[in-house]
Amino acid sequence: MCGIFGIVTSQEQLLGDILTAAARRLTYRGYDSVGIATLSDDGRIDLRKDAGRVDTVAVKYNFSEMSGRRGITQLRWATFGEPSQVNAQPHLDSDGDMVGAHNGNVVNNVELRQQFIAEGLTVRSQNDGETCVHAVEHYINKGYDFIDAIRLAYGDLAGDYAFVIGHVRDDKLFAIKKGSGLVVGLGEDADGRPFTCVSSDLPSILPLTRKIVRIHDDEIITLWADHIELRSVKDGKRLYREPEIVTQNMDTVQKGGYPHFMLKEIHEQPQVAREVLHLLEEAREVNTVIERIRKARLLYLIGCGTSYHACLIGSVYFAQLAGLAAIPVLAPQFIPQYAPAVNHEDVGLFVSQSGETKDVLNALQVAEKRGMTGIGIANVIGSTLTKSTACWLPLCCGYEISVPATKTFTNQVVTFLYLAYRLAGREPRELEQIPALMERTLEMTDLQMKALAGEINAWNDLYCLGYGATYPIALEGALKLKEITYAHCEGMLSTEFKHGPLSAVSEGYPVIFAAPPDDVPLIVSGINEVTCRGGRAIVIGEDDSRLRANASDMIALPKAGPSISPLLAVLPLQLLAYYVSVARGYDPDFPRNLSKTLTVD
Ligand code: AGP
Repeated sequence: MCGIFGIVTSQEQLLGDILTAAARRLTYRGYDSVGIATLSDDGRIDLRKDAGRVDTVAVKYNFSEMSGRRGITQLRWATFGEPSQVNAQPHLDSDGDMVGAHNGNVVNNVELRQQFIAEGLTVRSQNDGETCVHAVEHYINKGYDFIDAIRLAYGDLAGDYAFVIGHVRDDKLFAIKKGSGLVVGLGEDADGRPFTCVSSDLPSILPLTRKIVRIHDDEIITLWADHIELRSVKDGKRLYREPEIVTQNMDTVQKGGYPHFMLKEIHEQPQVAREVLHLLEEAREVNTVIERIRKARLLYLIGCGTSYHACLIGSVYFAQLAGLAAIPVLAPQFIPQYAPAVNHEDVGLFVSQSGETKDVLNALQVAEKRGMTGIGIANVIGSTLTKSTACWLPLCCGYEISVPATKTFTNQVVTFLYLAYRLAGREPRELEQIPALMERTLEMTDLQMKALAGEINAWNDLYCLGYGATYPIALEGALKLKEITYAHCEGMLSTEFKHGPLSAVSEGYPVIFAAPPDDVPLIVSGINEVTCRGGRAIVIGEDDSRLRANASDMIALPKAGPSISPLLAVLPLQLLAYYVSVARGYDPDFPRNLSKTLTVD
């Protein structure tokens, strides 16, 4: 994720407080490090940055005294390159006359860094934001002017990102984007002097102005204090777009226009899946993880709650795709059940959104004492889990605010699927269809789940069943429903239902099936056991005439095959839980009695 903000004003002034306030409003996009660069008319760049939260770093480096006519700030959510002063953004070019910052991921960072080092450029960090600056410098050194150098750099920088850059002997800022968001603001200060600004997102712009222009991929925007100029990156031709006036209030804007963070985070899933897939393709750590898994005597997948459900599906993928047995286990149960049998040849993948769950850290501590290699899979980099494991992989989701985990779950599943593909020697590029399939799933199921929520709202007791790779999805769907609707929803293996719980079924009783495409006949049997007793069988799965003919309700997913289809099935379940929660008048973002991060036993 990460966030950027840049401003161009009409005259030299104190800019530190304006940039700090903008950074504070971008904190939701990252808080591992923060930096500010100001550019003055006398040819000076003042750059101050460090690891830590905005308010701490702002005081430590006295951001308030920073002045200039242009300024850039960046909030970092670390992926690769630890949160540190050198990796904090913005970054300078080799001789310090250009400064820039980015958000997102440049996926060919490693190759480009090597190229720039070989060319003799001064590369100071591992961070891909610095690579963006050198990518421009590379073309300036070849004699291109500034704007053409940025346009050419755009072609070299692969991934999803937004990037802002300024040159000290200039009066403008330039910005480009690929995949990520980028918004420009046009306004006047209290004395009526014009300014322009650019940011990854609206919350940092709206306190300054409500007149905005949204930038698209393949466009380059130039900002002067009193006007902007939009051009095509490809041919440099001028483009014209009328500014719009944003009327939403700040609360709605922070939620990306959605009424709750949960719904925003549900809809962010395709984008963060795209980002994590890019990153996994590029990260050298992935090869280390794969090597260690291959050599392991026993492999454990360890987590709690939603992260445990990801471990369950990970274990199905490892077995089905790579013929590799992995033991999924709830972190606290690992200690009495498996720790006594663990030795130094074993490997544990410790999975956690927060990286701070005490149950997970306890299990890690016990496992490592017995010589096991612990590998982390975490969203919050710099968390205790990432600091305590030999090696870790990031989930690349940015800040997940809503208590119910959504986007971090799907990226955990995508990560396991990716690892399983690699372990199986299959081409992971096949997984690149996932983001588009997720988008399609959300489009196809949203209205249906909203309507269904109204109908099942009357029930305070229901089941969610799955089989094979959809068994963990059923558990996850049930957890979402429990967590934010306060109804009792039990997740279960579909074949177990007849061994007892079937007695709960009465007229209209809702039973949700997540149907794996390869096991339709088995699911059809389960459906009929419910419907013949008057129950309502709600089926989520790839469209199939056998399912349609037997189900009470069919929630059709796009065709995706046995590995990807289960991942898609969780999206309508998240939507269903969300809509029931809202219909009941609850706040899905902050369910009663729960906390996002459980640092207690
Ligand atoms: C998920 O919706 C829950 N909020 C909860 O089960 C969560 O997954 C669990 O507490 C583990 O958290 P972690 O991933 O941060 O370790």
